Amino acid sequence: MNVPFVSFKPLEKELDADLRAAFERVYQRSWYIEGQEDEAFEKAFAAYCGSEHCVGCGNGLDALMLVLKALGVGEGDEVLVPSNTYIATALAVTYTGATPVFVEPDIRTYDLDPARLEAALTPKTKAVMPVHLYGQPCDMDPIMAFAGAHGLFVVEDCAQAHGATYHGQRIGTFGDAAGFSFYPGKNLGALGDAGAVVTNNRDLAEKVRALGNYGSDYKYHHVYQGNNSRLDELQAAFLAAKLPHLDRMNQDRRRIAARYLDEIHNPQLTLPYILPGTEPVWHIFAVRCRKRDELAAYLADKGIATNKHYPIPMHLQGAYASLGIPKGALPIAEEISATQLSLPMFYGMTDDEVSYVVDALNAFS
Ligand SMILES: Cc1ncc(COP(=O)(O)O)c(C=O)c1O
Repeated sequence: MNVPFVSFKPLEKELDADLRAAFERVYQRSWYIEGQEDEAFEKAFAAYCGSEHCVGCGNGLDALMLVLKALGVGEGDEVLVPSNTYIATALAVTYTGATPVFVEPDIRTYDLDPARLEAALTPKTKAVMPVHLYGQPCDMDPIMAFAGAHGLFVVEDCAQAHGATYHGQRIGTFGDAAGFSFYPGKNLGALGDAGAVVTNNRDLAEKVRALGNYGSDYKYHHVYQGNNSRLDELQAAFLAAKLPHLDRMNQDRRRIAARYLDEIHNPQLTLPYILPGTEPVWHIFAVRCRKRDELAAYLADKGIATNKHYPIPMHLQGAYASLGIPKGALPIAEEISATQLSLPMFYGMTDDEVSYVVDALNAFS
């Protein structure tokens, strides 16, 4: 049997007519940027998150960068980010002119460890960016308490966690604002690149919208040196067709995760730990294994595709060589990079496929 790492086919088959209708609607109207599809999706996604405002933009990286810029984060500032995230989190900081400061995660949850924030604080610290990595909500109460005590902004990176909850509240609604990615492989994915900011702060939402539209508050009137990062009508229409199915899709990921958690019994594997009071959405089901590369090759031989999130930690990437952080300085991020493996996980994965993966993992020696 071949088990892909991810497949869009099960959902696309179910929503085929809706997605084609969304395309037709936009095409018939011949209106492609800043229109009624965008407005409708923003309204629906804000409501889904339990937030007052949503501003669509070009991708998740831009969503985070535009929020930071709108908050006034820039040159000379520092922003606390986890040492083990996708590089976009750190790049969003860099693009404002500020410096990302890497804070080690809790190895059990893979999320930012609130107990380590204090040690990273300097007079330059302006903001903290919790990343709900792999779809597991961060421990937001202590993070918000820390930020409140030190007057820091909180910008949540929700790129991997659409719909996840912390004590019953959707992630993305704790901080000043949150950035989402709708990259096709995300829990809510467009048919191309797309992203959004959600916030309860009207002024912030307006500034983010202006910054993503050439710094313009109305046509040909430019109050900021902005970017071009808008959610286009086609992607908004596709996203609006998929959004009503997001909870159901997340539920299906939970079915798969529950089976992995119940049925994988190989002592060589460390399974994910779920922080009490959280409901993850399993963007990624991560295991750790000392013999990770051997395990990946063994699974590949059996037709099972896996992935590594992420094989090189940010501080050891050429892109951040200028920060001068040596190997060994962030041992938890390095440990995760060396041992983490992501198992197949996608809406519509069949029970037979899950069983095949479980059996293969349990037989690995
Ligand atoms: C944690 C995290 N942050 C930010 C991003 C950036 O999103 P995008 O690829 O839409 O720019 C991604 C996804 O790629 C991500 O996984």
